Amino acid sequence: MRFGHFDDKNREYVITDPRTPLPWINFLGTQEFFSLISNTSGGYSFYKDALYRRITRYRYNNLPLDSGGKYFYINDAGTVWSPAWKPAQTELDAYECRHGLSYTSIRGEKNGLSCTQRSFVPLDAHCEVQQLTLENNSDQKKEISLYSFAEWCLWNAHDDMNNLQRNLSIGEVEIHGGTIYHKTEYRERRNHIAFYHSSRPPEGYDTDRESFFGMYNGLANPQVVMDDTPRNSVADGWSPVASHCNRITIAPGETKKLVFVLGYAENPDDEKWSAPGQINTTRAEELIAQFSTPEQAETAWKQLQSYWDELLAGFQVEHHDDRLERMVNTWNQYQCMVTYNFGRSASYYETGIGRGLGFRDTNQDLLGFLHLIPERARQRILDVAATQMEDGSCYHQYQPLTKRGNDAIGGDFNDDPIWLIASVSAYIRETDDWDILEEVVPFQNDPDNTGTLFDHLTRSVEHVLNNRGPHGLPLIGRADWNDCLNLNSFSTNPDESFQTADSKEGKTAESILIAALFIYYGREYVELANRSSRETDAGRVLKAITEMEKAVEEHGWDGAWYLRAYDDSGNKVGSKENEEGKIFIESQGFCSMANIGADKEMPRRALDAVGEHLATKHGIVLHQPAFTRYYLNLGEISSYPEGYKENAGIFCHNNPWIMIGETLIGRGDKAYDYYQRIAPAFREEISDLHRTEPYVYSQMIAGKDAGRHGEAKNSWLTGTAAWNFVAITQHILGIRPEFDGLRVDPCIPADWKGFTIQRRFRGARYIITVSNPNGVMKGPSEVRLNGDKIDGNIVPPQPADTDNNVEVIL
Ligand code: BGC
Ligand code: NOJ
Repeated sequence: MRFGHFDDKNREYVITDPRTPLPWINFLGTQEFFSLISNTSGGYSFYKDALYRRITRYRYNNLPLDSGGKYFYINDAGTVWSPAWKPAQTELDAYECRHGLSYTSIRGEKNGLSCTQRSFVPLDAHCEVQQLTLENNSDQKKEISLYSFAEWCLWNAHDDMNNLQRNLSIGEVEIHGGTIYHKTEYRERRNHIAFYHSSRPPEGYDTDRESFFGMYNGLANPQVVMDDTPRNSVADGWSPVASHCNRITIAPGETKKLVFVLGYAENPDDEKWSAPGQINTTRAEELIAQFSTPEQAETAWKQLQSYWDELLAGFQVEHHDDRLERMVNTWNQYQCMVTYNFGRSASYYETGIGRGLGFRDTNQDLLGFLHLIPERARQRILDVAATQMEDGSCYHQYQPLTKRGNDAIGGDFNDDPIWLIASVSAYIRETDDWDILEEVVPFQNDPDNTGTLFDHLTRSVEHVLNNRGPHGLPLIGRADWNDCLNLNSFSTNPDESFQTADSKEGKTAESILIAALFIYYGREYVELANRSSRETDAGRVLKAITEMEKAVEEHGWDGAWYLRAYDDSGNKVGSKENEEGKIFIESQGFCSMANIGADKEMPRRALDAVGEHLATKHGIVLHQPAFTRYYLNLGEISSYPEGYKENAGIFCHNNPWIMIGETLIGRGDKAYDYYQRIAPAFREEISDLHRTEPYVYSQMIAGKDAGRHGEAKNSWLTGTAAWNFVAITQHILGIRPEFDGLRVDPCIPADWKGFTIQRRFRGARYIITVSNPNGVMKGPSEVRLNGDKIDGNIVPPQPADTDNNVEVIL
């Protein structure tokens, strides 16, 4: 491998060449304080919300890419270098970056001096800890200067970029010993401060950006570092930064450890000041005191590792292919956790100012995450449900800090409501926590207008039923899962967003995808209703589902595959009659998952059509043929060049829908073949082409019509993580939580001999051994629980804290 390799034992990806094709990044933080960090130490930090509480500054779309981060510089007898290679970019004698679970450790070596920086956010703490280890491997005593560097963001990331003239005069800091405090706007309405602390009392510091860099130098060669002379500058307006200068002597063979803490603290309004104009630093100091010795930092790091050990023990597979193991056991679950925490807000491709948490995204992210931390999933479900409106429609996005729907984007994406049923039923299957249905949850965050969570689900269902078009199929609204299929927008104005452009009344354009979602998750609703003594609701919706199935069979089948939609003129979208966009993946996926028209073999025929028209060696494209021009009646989907994004790109998010469809008709070989095409660990060898990180999924891989077919974009924050985890664990490996227990129903390639899974489920542990002596793809012939044969293949829940052996013979 050209750029690095997996270290499975330590659950790390080890990057050995700093010049990766794109920045290969990691996410730090598991609860409220978060950082992004690249393999050359780029990135930034924020508290809870990357828009409202941005702590350090980052410039997206910079040149070169990924210039800006929390950096270290070493001046060793006039040679200036950085352990992460950047920003000094002095050629190193050795370099290695290890991205692990919620930490990143980067080691550089130059002229016999090794420096390792390990960054992580401790559990339950609002700070990032940087452990610095210096080792003198030469035979000479070294006297070096170590400079830290961070640039403060003025809190609101949007204003920070936008309101430049104001920002130039508001920067304020305070310096107390080794701690630099950032207090811009604290004098007025803010009650929060940030700080950067050096455990070793530094010999000097800088907090004014121009004093640190000089007027004509950049990140690679700050004047202070080049001159080896800190200016002890105090920011006064302009741009506040934080840099400590530590002068360190190290004997040959000696190791020295330092700790830096970058953190965030809030003070109650009546305790903001310790003296006029002087911030109260008590809370910040308490936080610092927890981590400021090397021993404390090490302990906190170990606690974080135990936390991950414990979490991931909830699902582990032993399998003959180590690529599958590393995806399932480590990286896919890790990415699910990151998408849960970050939504679509902040990554190297999401700027943290545009999108908070999406309604449909959040509900789908939960599918990949709730087996890990069900208690937190519960709260997230209640938060997202509270943004739903009374008529069942939903705010398309909401902000993590305020938990309020985002007015700028509004609602009317008509698939949104249904996804709430998906997350709630998955949550109850996992936990058996039926009480959640009775929780009282506001509509539109209005405490005076509430219903039970079950009422919210009913509104979701009714929203679909109340908004049906000429064929009895659901109206699409602004868009369904495909944000860019805008059948009611007819936008001719380049200065408006397709997502919020003035929309037609929308009484004609219908979505077959929403119909399929309604059928698939409507059945879940019916189960929830029946099992919570709401038979009337169940009966009513069951009837509606049957009608909807009929409508799809009659008006949603194109002869060899399912249609995608009807447009505003009532014309078909995704039909052989169309010149372009004749067949789409979304409806083939969800209609076959919902098994619509099974007696006419519609699912199998649709999946065959996918194989024939949409599958490529790099994954399954969204549709074919790609749109070669802009179609006013289709919207943003036709705005992209062919093969990119929603115009026939490989959207990794819905490839698993096809995999799941394939498992339902028993074709384990096909399902797993599709899985391997997009799973990043299987694409590691083609990193030059793929370019994004080989340890996490990207949103899109360029489709066959693109100039750069096979190249991935927008890694990390994508529903791809959750859906691929669902496809591989629940449908291919086939361990599926059901209301009555754990179903074991693998659907695998015939040549697999077997595999073993350890799974936690409702407090008990299961060791599930699947063997395939007859070389079949599907169908357990015998299931034993702790030695005794059981009827069927649902393992009933066992007492908490017990270990249980499940043997499955296919
Ligand atoms: C992206 C969506 C986004 C939309 C905004 C689409 O291409 O996939 O994530 O909401 O563009 O225009
Ligand atoms: C990304 C969005 O976050 C998701 O909600 C949407 O379904 C896909 N793009 C497809 O447009």
